[in-house]
Amino acid sequence: MKGMFAAGNGPVQISAEAIAKRVQELGAQIARDYQGKTPHLVCVLNGAFVFTADLVRAIPLPLTLDFIAISSYGNAYRSSGEVELIKDLRLPIHGRDVIVVEDIVDTGLTLAYLLDYLEARKPASIRVAALLSKPARRQVEVPIHYLGFEIEDAYVYGYGLDRAQFDRNLPFITSLRPEEE
Ligand code: PRP
Repeated sequence: MKGMFAAGNGPVQISAEAIAKRVQELGAQIARDYQGKTPHLVCVLNGAFVFTADLVRAIPLPLTLDFIAISSYGNAYRSSGEVELIKDLRLPIHGRDVIVVEDIVDTGLTLAYLLDYLEARKPASIRVAALLSKPARRQVEVPIHYLGFEIEDAYVYGYGLDRAQFDRNLPFITSLRPEEE
């Protein structure tokens, strides 16, 4: 049986081609900025796994990669402002040029927590690459040095982002209309 990837009917729709083009641009920009250095990318699980996989292959530099997992949606942090570390880094970041790789920055609470956590480990530098940003939802100001797309406030999923844990495998980004959520 031939499968099919279904898109939602929401306002945010970003094709696989548009994503690929933007990821190549971000990779080229990072490669220029980190020429002569060895960046250390930190992928924030789970949502950023697809973006990270494509981004690292668009950065023609020696680099290292690690993964961290912290909880956000669907638990107490949304009301309390608390974020929980689910899986720690495996590699040291002291003295490294760290690039945090996120799929989406929404309220900014996850990233704010993460930046504090990473800065305490004294990296040489720390920057952020995020595929998507929803500025309308921001609660804390956070830096994004490499941004894929600024989007409006819709429930987005695909390309690593989930819809109730499903649809991370969609090759594009799509969204729901409010009444579909
Ligand atoms: C998403 C995303 C960010 C966070 C952004 O993760 O990957 O980490 O939410 O939201 P914020 O700016 O409001 O903090 P999510 O908790 O959905 O988990 P997942 O990556 O495992 O899908």
